[in-house]
Amino acid sequence: MVFRQLFDEDSCTYTYLLADALTADAVLIDTVLGHVGGYLSLLQEQGLQLRWVLETHVHADHITGAAALKEHTGARTVTSAAGGAECADLRATDDTVIAFGEELIRVISTPGHTPGCVTYRWRDRVFTGDALLIGGCGRTDFQGGDAATLYDSITQRLFSLPGETLVYPAHDYKGQRVSCIAQERETNPRVANTTREAFVETMAALKLPPPRQIDTALPANEACGRSPELIDLQGV
Ligand SMILES: [Fe+2]
Repeated sequence: MVFRQLFDEDSCTYTYLLADALTADAVLIDTVLGHVGGYLSLLQEQGLQLRWVLETHVHADHITGAAALKEHTGARTVTSAAGGAECADLRATDDTVIAFGEELIRVISTPGHTPGCVTYRWRDRVFTGDALLIGGCGRTDFQGGDAATLYDSITQRLFSLPGETLVYPAHDYKGQRVSCIAQERETNPRVANTTREAFVETMAALKLPPPRQIDTALPANEACGRSPELIDLQGV
């Protein structure tokens, strides 16, 4: 197996490279347009062929590299069927299986941060997007977010996974790179030892400022990052 965790300092986004070491088939999860050149170099260095570009959801804080990567590599794009990006080659629902080489990724529907949020489960780990963060969770105050739905996704879908399952989120703002289900189930200050009602109240009281790039990122990501000017701008 090949596994890399990559980081975009501007939006604190984690991007993940997964590959089958035997067949060299690769997947990228939650890419950032500004790093497409770097991803292409990394794939080439490692001798990998990119097969799939996955989104955990339609992001509001950065523009996806999905369209540019598809153009350069022929990889197919994946978003949630409930996610509002109808341009994807595969629109995943709960239990969709994505194959690359001899490897399988299973889709777990985890709405709440947005209606179309999904978690990708691969081997001993999950890529939780903005549903479950390390010691936190995604906000629920825009993009059709719903705190009660997010609480159910985290407590019923994610916390029912084996405790040793590794948790790799889409963001971290404190330099934390990985957690596990048991740690989040026991210590996550937003969701451990609380009720659905208390969680909804906590989320309603957050009053966060809007993400910096939301006005450009949302429309671009609803088009799978397919914007010729943007792709040209990045020089890839
Ligand atoms: Fe998000």
